[in-house]
Amino acid sequence: IPAQWKGIQMTEKIALKEIKEKIIIALDVKSQSEAAKILELLPEARIFKVGLELFTAEGPGMIELVRSYGHQVFLDIKLHDIPNTVAGAVRAAVRQGVSMLTLHTSGGKEMMSRAMDAAREEAEKAGLRTPLLLGVTVLTSLKEKDLEEIGFRSEPQTQVLRLAGRALQSGLKGVVCSPHEIELLRREHGTDIKIITPGIRPVWAEAQDQKRIMTPAEALVKGADYMVIGRPIIQAANPEEAFARVVKELEAAV
Ligand code: C5P
Repeated sequence: IPAQWKGIQMTEKIALKEIKEKIIIALDVKSQSEAAKILELLPEARIFKVGLELFTAEGPGMIELVRSYGHQVFLDIKLHDIPNTVAGAVRAAVRQGVSMLTLHTSGGKEMMSRAMDAAREEAEKAGLRTPLLLGVTVLTSLKEKDLEEIGFRSEPQTQVLRLAGRALQSGLKGVVCSPHEIELLRREHGTDIKIITPGIRPVWAEAQDQKRIMTPAEALVKGADYMVIGRPIIQAANPEEAFARVVKELEAAV
């Protein structure tokens, strides 16, 4: 076997590993048993999202469950409260070993910077890596009219840019946004910002309630660091195959 061949294989392996770490599987289910079923079906996935429904139903045990499979947890509970309360929740999440955590940027700069300090301190105490704190900008369900009704006078995109800017100023390292805002944020902040995006639909999957969708390859090329994918994989007839298909599409795109 030529030495080079081995080299190429190594590179391919690394690329494959990195690609898998760009996909976050949304555990959008009601119970621990359903979550465990998905974890069993997707041994190749690396990061799983525990969201509000599952976390409220089953609690922090869900973080433990995902970690017991050796995977990373993206805890998407969009914290939004006074700085002291949010900082306390962040500390608790860090102790549970989450790798990524969301909070609302509209909670303000103090809330975000106190959250960041709490994450750093608690991780250091526990000897863990500081989790990636991500700011939620504008929920994908809100349109211009909805924003106006709650007193936000600017267009969604302007609002996303403003909130993402405040998030970075407060020490956060990234944001959650629609795939259609990736370019805007990359133009403004280059690689200083980590971007996570939902609204991902492979061409072979149905859109369901997702409106402004993009394929995994498109989102990757536009500059998404991570993409959250739920139903196209977890509700597929064969989730493992659906996951492998997305990975293949991403590989072809890089
Ligand atoms: O649509 P899918 O099942 O792939 O959802 C993955 C994630 O995208 C969900 O966990 C939710 O956070 C987000 N989502 C969204 N807008 C919707 C539906 C879901 O941002 N209309």
